[in-house]
Amino acid sequence: MENLQSCRTLANGVKMPCVGYGTWQTPSGDVARDSVKAALELGYRHVDTASAYENEESVGEGIRRSGVRRDEIFLTTKQWTSARGREQTIAAAERSLKALGTDYLDLYLIHWPAVKKGTPDWADINAETWSGFEKLYRDGKVRAIGVSNFLVEQLEALKSRSEIMPMVDQIEFHPGYVQNATVDYCRANGIQVEAWSPLGCGRLLSDPLVAKVGAAHGKSAAQVCVRYAMQHGVVPLPKSVHPDRIAANAQVFDFALSDGEMKALDAMPQTGYSGYHPDDAPAG
Ligand code: A2P
Repeated sequence: MENLQSCRTLANGVKMPCVGYGTWQTPSGDVARDSVKAALELGYRHVDTASAYENEESVGEGIRRSGVRRDEIFLTTKQWTSARGREQTIAAAERSLKALGTDYLDLYLIHWPAVKKGTPDWADINAETWSGFEKLYRDGKVRAIGVSNFLVEQLEALKSRSEIMPMVDQIEFHPGYVQNATVDYCRANGIQVEAWSPLGCGRLLSDPLVAKVGAAHGKSAAQVCVRYAMQHGVVPLPKSVHPDRIAANAQVFDFALSDGEMKALDAMPQTGYSGYHPDDAPAG
């Protein structure tokens, strides 16, 4: 049976634990520090943050206080849109490393792409930013590089302008919002998909269909959502600041959703959708 430390293998051979611990909207200070520590104590080995979450220092403190060795943890952070460009990217990564109190990242992501709407040279801007990522990767500062919120158009443009393909694309993904075109493209191009807001930012937890599917397995709606992403080959990053929920969200290895249940969850309305679409990505 798999567990929280079971891994998916990225295109460059780096291993990524199959469920991550999300920290979007986790306030910095005691809450972030203690919840990251709790997640690691509960067996999570994959922690996801971002410079824009403004909690990197506390996340780093939580990691140190957990006592879990740094090399046993897969740590991701993301570059914000204000740091687009090659040199700015390298400087932003250095700031994140300092804030986290570590000398390398397991994964560094472009948080949002530059997009056509409002940015005519969007493709060149992303390529320039990406060249900074390639440099960080070659210099050994980051073990893997990837993107977030990139759709097929942005991935294709990057492919034709870069030397190394992203190893990961982190997108919004949950029952009712499965982004088939992007996920299919990633699969065909060896890009591991990660799910942000796998619980629909909590909006799916009171959904009757998700609850009913869970009840059939003696599981909660949250557990159904985490399992659903895994069965799609996607790495979910559920967020909670409560140890009981952090623990419960990882109790997903002892049941399986049927094909019929997966299809019903695929087809459900976009109840959990955040409303954040890459076409409207922050301009930077
Ligand atoms: P909290 O941090 O107070 O537990 P997502 O991961 O999709 O972004 O969802 C995160 C939201 O869902 C947060 O508001 C989080 O609140 C809530 N949440 C996470 N896990 C659970 C759970 N097991 N039961 C109820 N709410 C949860």
